[in-house]
Amino acid sequence: MVTGAAGFIGSHLVDLLLDQGHTVIGLDSLDPAYSPAQKRANLAAAQQHPSFRLVVDDLRRAHLAGLFAEAATVYHLAARAGVQDSWRQGVTDTWEVNVAGTQAVLDAALTAGAGRVVLASSSSVYGETAAPGGPRIVNPISPYGASKAACEHLAGVYSGRGLEVVTLRYFTVYGPRQRPDMAMHRMFEATRADGPTFSRRGSGEQTREFTFVGDVARATAAAAAVPAAAGRAFDIGGGARHSLNDVIAAVGAVSGAAVRVRTVPRPAGDPQATAADADPARRLLGWRPVTSLRRGLAEQGAWHRQRRSPTRPPAAQPGSAQSVPAAI
Ligand SMILES: NC(=O)c1ccc[n+]([C@@H]2O[C@H](COP(=O)([O-])OP(=O)(O)OC[C@H]3O[C@@H](n4cnc5c(N)ncnc54)[C@H](O)[C@@H]3O)[C@@H](O)[C@H]2O)c1
Repeated sequence: MVTGAAGFIGSHLVDLLLDQGHTVIGLDSLDPAYSPAQKRANLAAAQQHPSFRLVVDDLRRAHLAGLFAEAATVYHLAARAGVQDSWRQGVTDTWEVNVAGTQAVLDAALTAGAGRVVLASSSSVYGETAAPGGPRIVNPISPYGASKAACEHLAGVYSGRGLEVVTLRYFTVYGPRQRPDMAMHRMFEATRADGPTFSRRGSGEQTREFTFVGDVARATAAAAAVPAAAGRAFDIGGGARHSLNDVIAAVGAVSGAAVRVRTVPRPAGDPQATAADADPARRLLGWRPVTSLRRGLAEQGAWHRQRRSPTRPPAAQPGSAQSVPAAI
């Protein structure tokens, strides 16, 4: 069972689980936070698969225990995602979907006797404390991060009642199907002559551990399989840190056209640096990221080109992974 199955990460997880031979039920409300048509397109391949079924419903209203009764694992990815959105339009949903929705999922999983819940959390729970060498404590600096921290506490509550929960703190995920509010998506769109300009928040010197979505899907599937992972939280990061300015240059190189940039003030909730602690996921889940930023951006660039000209093969040039600066 995958909640948020039609979203960016959820749809890649669905594809991977189907490839691994599992039967998958997806639950998604096709929430209008961004285009429901994009979400349906994310599941185009899965919808052709005989072992996949999509239930379009809101997890706040669906009969979850009935759905979960069939599930060995509930991967809970449905959320109102996004730091900046959580100050603005997303305020209510950030709390209703992320917190009350997660409690509904955990409660139903316990009632239904689901084997395990894998909970999608975020590096945002750390606020500024996930910087290299930082104290690494849960100390969010945005309403979104606070909502994810609340989800983690709820996971602890339900673990105490006997439910197996594994929490994964994803670090800035990118790749094909990325949400349109996210930086790399906006950068690729800003390489088009007729596209919007990319609004760089601040100097661009902030650094992130960007994580390729295929690696995130593998980590998420692995979290269901390791008995010793129950009750634990893992950082899921891409293995290297890059500044926003590095990524702007790399997206330009991949696309064969510069990203048109304008600078806007750095908003609240945007940490200066994030870095994952890779060791627990490597030791306990047997997982490590394998996709370099160079390779992952080339895949995302191909997806953007394909969306603009669906008849053109995804591997079409201009730009190539080879033309990205070697340091990326
Ligand atoms: N993308 C990232 O960089 C990132 C980083 C850290 C954590 N996360 C977490 O990973 C998960 C997936 O994120 P994403 O980037 O794929 O976001 P996304 O918005 O693409 O996917 C979330 C999906 O949940 C669905 N949804 C929203 N409200 C729902 C509801 N009430 N009932 C049923 N479905 C609902 C949406 O329609 C959407 O398809 C989220 O929990 C997010 O907080 C993402």
